[in-house]
Amino acid sequence: MCGIVAYVGDLVAGPILFDTLKRLEYRGYDSAGVALKSEGAIVVLKSAGRIADLEKVYQSRGCPGEGMGIGHTRWATHGRPSDRNAHPHTSGEIAIVHNGIIENYLDLRELLTEMGYVFSSETDSEVLAHLIHFYFKGDLYAAVCRALVHVEGSYAVAVLAASSPYLVCARKDSPLVLGKGKTAIYVASDVPALLPYTKDVIRMKDGEIARVFADRVEIMDREGQPRLAQVERITWDADAAEKGGYTHFMLKEIHEQPRAIRETIAGRISEIDGDVRLKLGMSDEEIKGLERVTIIACGTSYHAGMLAKNLFARVAGLPVDVEVASEFLNIQVRPRTLLLGITQSGETADTLLALKKAKTCGGRSLAITNVVGSTVTELVDGTIYTRCGPEIGVAATKTFTSQLVAIILLAIRLGRARAHLTPDQARKMLIELTKLPGLVQRVLEKREEIRKIAERYAGASCYFFIGRDYLYPISLEGALKMKEIAYIPSEGYAGGELKHGPLALITEKTPVVALATCGKKIQSNIKEVRARGAEVIALATEGDPDIAKVASHVIELPQTQPIYSAVLCTVAVQLLSYYTANKLGLPIDKPRNLAKCVTVE
Ligand code: M6R
Repeated sequence: MCGIVAYVGDLVAGPILFDTLKRLEYRGYDSAGVALKSEGAIVVLKSAGRIADLEKVYQSRGCPGEGMGIGHTRWATHGRPSDRNAHPHTSGEIAIVHNGIIENYLDLRELLTEMGYVFSSETDSEVLAHLIHFYFKGDLYAAVCRALVHVEGSYAVAVLAASSPYLVCARKDSPLVLGKGKTAIYVASDVPALLPYTKDVIRMKDGEIARVFADRVEIMDREGQPRLAQVERITWDADAAEKGGYTHFMLKEIHEQPRAIRETIAGRISEIDGDVRLKLGMSDEEIKGLERVTIIACGTSYHAGMLAKNLFARVAGLPVDVEVASEFLNIQVRPRTLLLGITQSGETADTLLALKKAKTCGGRSLAITNVVGSTVTELVDGTIYTRCGPEIGVAATKTFTSQLVAIILLAIRLGRARAHLTPDQARKMLIELTKLPGLVQRVLEKREEIRKIAERYAGASCYFFIGRDYLYPISLEGALKMKEIAYIPSEGYAGGELKHGPLALITEKTPVVALATCGKKIQSNIKEVRARGAEVIALATEGDPDIAKVASHVIELPQTQPIYSAVLCTVAVQLLSYYTANKLGLPIDKPRNLAKCVTVE
């Protein structure tokens, strides 16, 4: 996730900017940069790579700059990690740093190019620098206000102009915090960066734009009316602050899912056309000609692939094979097959090897990944980025739900190109998709209820997760999470398969999590395990009249279409395993024997 910092005060800005940037390192980054006001001009230093290396360059240049500057750590979303794509971006005497996604940047880029602006990066953010420059006639605040009117998407932005006595900051759907020091104002994406300097912070609200001077901040709301800034005193320590006040990164990342899903969707759907915009590197004709899809993935990403199996068949009329990458041995990929690699890191050795092998059979290939410029992106013809920011906890959470959303977007695109899905059917799916972040938020609000259940069964020696159809892969994912962070042997099973063997394991000591938001058939499976004495924790749709009659505990989830219900159930099982592991006092973010990215076969 990108990070922004800024400083206006009575000290030289450079050292403070580098220090605050380092305090945002935990968010992950691939490049960094600063812009400093110096002798009536702006000095920019930026590069791909480590902040510490950039700081050495700054020092070797004699630490230029005065008491005003902006800085950035970049986590690539548009354009690979490189010196050119690093922020700040400049236009004349304007320099900006931006966090978020400008959804209409291609239109704005075209317009600005026609007006004579020359772009030096592939980023969406650079359009902002030129737009502000276009409107700048000596009043930086007015220029930023006018520029932002044209911007669709999310942003936290800090803007510097060589001739302006103040900085301008603005936010919409991306966080931005101001810190009040005695003789300076600090700006950052997150509180931890500010803590060594001040514990008095002002959180900017959506739609607000601020003029930042060394001794004061003037915040204007959406209507341009001044807002009396409320100062909040931070009482957390730096470690807790890095986790945003959450006890673990995993819990923080579970809670980031509404935002992560919004970012995955941003700029990619058109409800009017009933279609999805994705750069797949394939024409509609090619998509029409496809006969199959072969998905290659590992672990949690493999579960995402399993969900794609039923979805692609229904929505795009395409049969799907889903292969565990490490078992992709002598499989021949048939002609007219689309290869799809799913890997959040983009670096999983088994997935890369299997993809390479599969590609020798020809055919088009795509990847779904979270990491811009990762190795998988070099192997394939097109990439769908999940854009959910770096995930620090070893257990995949927000990257998984964003993969599910990317798969849904891809299914709709394929379905529309193949005329298997009408615009109206696609529109209905897309309208519901836009509601998904809000629905996920409502599941997160059930955390206390889920915590109590998790703690009650934390001593279990074995767990079962059962589901059907779209919820079967989620039952596998629930079991994987329980194994991985709570170390409880867990089975994920298709409801209908229980009676073919695993029922022998069910006793009164086996809690069974039944994913029961879609269809009634699962209720007979619940009865089967209840009859063997098992306690059943059912995830059911709000208002389901029957489920309480058969389950021991019911966690009610919002009503939605079955495919989205898979995402809601995921969030509930993530919380269940999190609170189980937490009760057991386990090292949740770094479970034993596991690595975040498995780069060996
Ligand atoms: O980076 P990838 O998505 O390729 O990683 C694949 C698996 O190693 C990964 O999903 C793993 O199963 C998760 N950490 C489980 O939470």
